[in-house]
Amino acid sequence: MRDHFEIRDHDAAGRIGRLEVPRAGVTVETPALLPVVNPNVLTVEPRRLAEEFGAEMLITNSYIIRSTDRIRHRVLEEGLHEFLGFDGAIMTDSGSFQLAEYGDIDVTTEEIIEFQRAIGSDVATPVDVPTPPDVDRERAERELATTRQALADAEAAETGEMLVNAPVQGSTFPDLREEAGSHASATDLDVFPVGAMVPLLNSYRYAEVVEAVRAAKRGLDPDAPVHLFGAGHPMMLALAVAAGCDLFDSAAYALMARDGRYLTVSGTEHLEEMEYFPCSCPVCAEHTPAELREMEGSDGGGGNGAGADRSAAELLAEHNLHVTFEELRRVKAAIRSGNLLQLVDRRARGHPAMLDGLRTLLDHADELEETDPVSKDAFFYTSHESARRPEVRRHHDRLSRLAVPDRLLLTESDAPSNHDYDAVWRVKPPFGPFPRALSETYPLTAEVPERVDGAAQVAAAEGVASLAGANPDTAITLGHDDWAPRALDAVPDGIETENLRHLGR
Ligand code: GUN
Ligand code: ZN
Repeated sequence: MRDHFEIRDHDAAGRIGRLEVPRAGVTVETPALLPVVNPNVLTVEPRRLAEEFGAEMLITNSYIIRSTDRIRHRVLEEGLHEFLGFDGAIMTDSGSFQLAEYGDIDVTTEEIIEFQRAIGSDVATPVDVPTPPDVDRERAERELATTRQALADAEAAETGEMLVNAPVQGSTFPDLREEAGSHASATDLDVFPVGAMVPLLNSYRYAEVVEAVRAAKRGLDPDAPVHLFGAGHPMMLALAVAAGCDLFDSAAYALMARDGRYLTVSGTEHLEEMEYFPCSCPVCAEHTPAELREMEGSDGGGGNGAGADRSAAELLAEHNLHVTFEELRRVKAAIRSGNLLQLVDRRARGHPAMLDGLRTLLDHADELEETDPVSKDAFFYTSHESARRPEVRRHHDRLSRLAVPDRLLLTESDAPSNHDYDAVWRVKPPFGPFPRALSETYPLTAEVPERVDGAAQVAAAEGVASLAGANPDTAITLGHDDWAPRALDAVPDGIETENLRHLGR
């Protein structure tokens, strides 16, 4: 891997970074969304993608250009940037997606990398094999070997300043994904897309998307820029970023608009069924759903998106882009403030598939903990998933290393005025016990609801267990505020417990 990526900020496994794209002479801030531009149908003109939506990079398909006589010569002559009217960074795909859809393409990695260089691509792609989910292991392994050869062919090609993608495949086998990640990382290629996600994304299988990303990330270098091929629905951006993805590309904004679909951060709506637009982008501010439906009936102007008379599909595509870029900015702001997992939690309330994605992400809290900053804006407890956040785990690990006296009271209430303990520590679900001196340090400054739930109490009990386990000779008493039976079950046997409610405290 060459050194074109710099990470500036972390939150969970998400990061804000800078991807230097030398051939374009630009540096792209990540997380970045690359709108997919069909070289034959410019739904929204690339110039407008940059100026009105803030796209710093886009992706188009070199295989389509190469196999379309009408444009091939022009693109070779003018170059891709001139042809599209875009002077940011341009990534090109290789035809692998067509290979996956139609089973066969008539180009090799060597040929398509050379073609991508010739048209002036800034980031090229070899012909990897996007093995779909749920195939048998033999097929996944066989196709992975072909992808590996494609990466080797790309390494051998003359690429100059052009960056090259090293796609990570492996279907739904986490160990194969991880192995593919290690292999890709060891090449001298530059950007690492997690591939063949489209079938999972289209059916909202976000838990498996997260598993694939985490597996690939375990194999990849932590500093590697990671692209989630084909992902760009605004609903799942926060989740995918928190899992460790830096680049996204989306055709959804245009494809869905053609079917009258309206994207939001909690799913997809149908123009047909909408009475109001819940959005303030220029399209939604100036039109009602009924107006767009009326335009759909007539021709609406069409053309390439220039001028005022855009079709309903073009206007829907613009809304879809606005809402997607808005969410991307929200994700970046959340990383800066350190509340990305809180944003993911909010998104998880919008769709059950997202809740599965969040729960799967939290299965990997130990991995997230490795890059999670030690201090950030206050931790907000917003759902029982918050009890599984990496900050809670980190506090529990830390508890086993704290010095404790012989006789220790842990209590959710204030310290009693008269007592004969050596020390009195606070207990705060979901973290559990801590010395009062740590009250003002992250994450113990957490904002927790008055009405704590069972999951937070269980997590606090696990904190008590961690402390007790490391200090078997300490006599520990726990004063709890009417904890649920399952939380009390998680408190080790040797600990005396007192229900503060019964004591009237
Ligand atoms: N576009 C969406 N998924 C893929 C993939 O797995 N490989 C390539 N090259 N392009 C894609
Ligand atoms: Zn809108």
